Amino acid sequence: MSDNISGKIIVITGASSGLGETAAKHLSQQGAIVVLGARRADRIESLAKQLSAKGGQALALTTDVTKYEQVKKLVDTAVQTYGRIDVIINNAGLMPQSPLDRLKIDEWNQMIDVNIKGVLYGIAAALPHMKEKKSGHIINVSSVAGHKVRPNNTVYAATKHAVRVISEGLRQEVKPYNIRTTIISPGAVDTELPNTISEPDIAENMHKFYRDVSIPADSFARAVAFAISQPEDVDINEILFRPTRQEF
Ligand SMILES: NC(=O)c1ccc[n+]([C@@H]2O[C@H](COP(=O)([O-])OP(=O)(O)OC[C@H]3O[C@@H](n4cnc5c(N)ncnc54)[C@H](OP(=O)(O)O)[C@@H]3O)[C@@H](O)[C@H]2O)c1
Repeated sequence: MSDNISGKIIVITGASSGLGETAAKHLSQQGAIVVLGARRADRIESLAKQLSAKGGQALALTTDVTKYEQVKKLVDTAVQTYGRIDVIINNAGLMPQSPLDRLKIDEWNQMIDVNIKGVLYGIAAALPHMKEKKSGHIINVSSVAGHKVRPNNTVYAATKHAVRVISEGLRQEVKPYNIRTTIISPGAVDTELPNTISEPDIAENMHKFYRDVSIPADSFARAVAFAISQPEDVDINEILFRPTRQEF
């Protein structure tokens, strides 16, 4: 059990795979109560069962983060069930990379809807509860792409830059409410993320890059746990990490 994690009510979006799933397992092991949201109900329900079987407490609720009402329901259910929400991890995201001149407009819209609006909806759902309690922690998942833009990565990088801007504005605005805010910006971590690339040539390069460079998802889980576990008067505002072998 870690200080300041045990007993916390932690809502995680995008908990059905990759970073969200691994963070849920890690935080549950440290005694947190995790509330899991994602569209793939079978995945989050079986994860909740798995965590409960190990003595943890977990709840799964099918959630599409592009629908504000569903994100609100996820957070409200956490509050109704456990009395409050201590942390929300706005983690759901996708990365269908392509050069702009391929005009993958539907994918641009999807990234804007999930990666930006999904984060805003998570903030909107959690903030009233946290304001009322004058306590809480909002963790938003950006990326190295929130710091750098590279060819084929323009729209994804724009969404991840937006996450950092939103998080920094939020950080300043929530001072009166004693709310902590953390941006986590991972480099290449081994998850299903490259599977969201639909262009075969771009996907092939990215799969190779991930095969060569990526590190396991527990790297992310430990970063999340580090931020949450600090004493309440310590606000870890940003963590940027990469695989040691990742150059860009
Ligand atoms: N892996 C990396 O190298 C890396 C690096 C930097 C940043 N990130 C960021 O980390 C976050 C998690 O990604 P990951 O690497 O863990 O990839 P992943 O394994 O593909 O997981 C993405 C998660 O997002 C969820 N999601 C996608 N669309 C959603 C929607 N409309 N509503 C609710 N959930 C949705 C997926 O769940 P469902 O499909 O079940 O809905 C899944 O649980 C993303 O924001 C990603 O941009 C990842």
